[in-house]
Amino acid sequence: MVASALPHIVVLALGGTIAGSAASATDATGYRAATTGVDDLLARVPDAARLARLTGEQFANMDSSDLTDEVLLALARRVSAIAAEPGVDGVVITHGTDTMEESAYFLNLVLTTSVPVVLTGAMRPATALSADGPMNLHAAVAVAAAASSSRQGVLVVMNDEIHSGRDVTKTSSTRVGAFGSPYGPLGVVVAGRPLYYRSVARPHTTATEFDIAAIDALPRAGIVFAHSGIDESLATVIGAAGWDIIVHAGFGNGTVANRVIAPLEAARAGGAVVVRATRTGSGHVSAAGASGDLVNGWISVDDQSPQRARILACLALTVTRDHDAIQRIFDTY
Ligand code: SIN
Repeated sequence: MVASALPHIVVLALGGTIAGSAASATDATGYRAATTGVDDLLARVPDAARLARLTGEQFANMDSSDLTDEVLLALARRVSAIAAEPGVDGVVITHGTDTMEESAYFLNLVLTTSVPVVLTGAMRPATALSADGPMNLHAAVAVAAAASSSRQGVLVVMNDEIHSGRDVTKTSSTRVGAFGSPYGPLGVVVAGRPLYYRSVARPHTTATEFDIAAIDALPRAGIVFAHSGIDESLATVIGAAGWDIIVHAGFGNGTVANRVIAPLEAARAGGAVVVRATRTGSGHVSAAGASGDLVNGWISVDDQSPQRARILACLALTVTRDHDAIQRIFDTY
């Protein structure tokens, strides 16, 4: 294909391990993330020029654990603007893997575009033997450039798998195959070609009620992680912090220890939205389950992880503070 006929893909770089470096080629853990720029990333994937015409843009160069909700909003605004530019056929975001799932879910809910948006990263720094970043970036460009990726929602491409931004989670601290989805990937990348086998049933991008253009700031929201022996003063302190949203990562079906119910209920009475998730890693959290949401006026998260529930709760509060309306949003997305 002549270069002008190729799809135009913008690669937006945020940092992370894919842009990281270590002193030794065998050091895949003791490295610094976010040390090289987008030009360097693109120079490592020369064959991607056969798939697409690439333009690089450095959005930030950070460890994704330092990402704030303000940065997330700015990222969404920038991606939205790029996707709306005439002649742009797809966007690839290189992102640290640690909070990639939260960014992917947020973008999946607020971008009102059918242009493919694909996040990728790496588990090994760019200097490592068998660095996974270049292959992941090549695969992400292939996915972003494919017409079959349109209307699949925001995607995460890692280790030859294509995951939905709704479902994907980082499941390993160090393995190269670090990402998984509870219902499996949407597809795979084989020889530079995406192959899809399923799509998600829940609304995303063009079909959601959220719009980045209408969001000025996100509410203050955090997570309380339940554990055996949890001290109720933890919830009391968090309740006093004045967050708009408290997500409780509970036991099993979102169970809250009896001694923690009172401080969470006090926070709710003070105006916070209390959201009940599970720390188990998968599964549905039932309304009116072990902790009686209908009685307490709390929200149950369906199957969302605590960290994704935090994102969805933030977005819900940008459109409503009504309990039933927030619960509907959790049952929808
Ligand atoms: C980060 O999330 O920025 C560092 C870790 C990684 O990219 O794997």
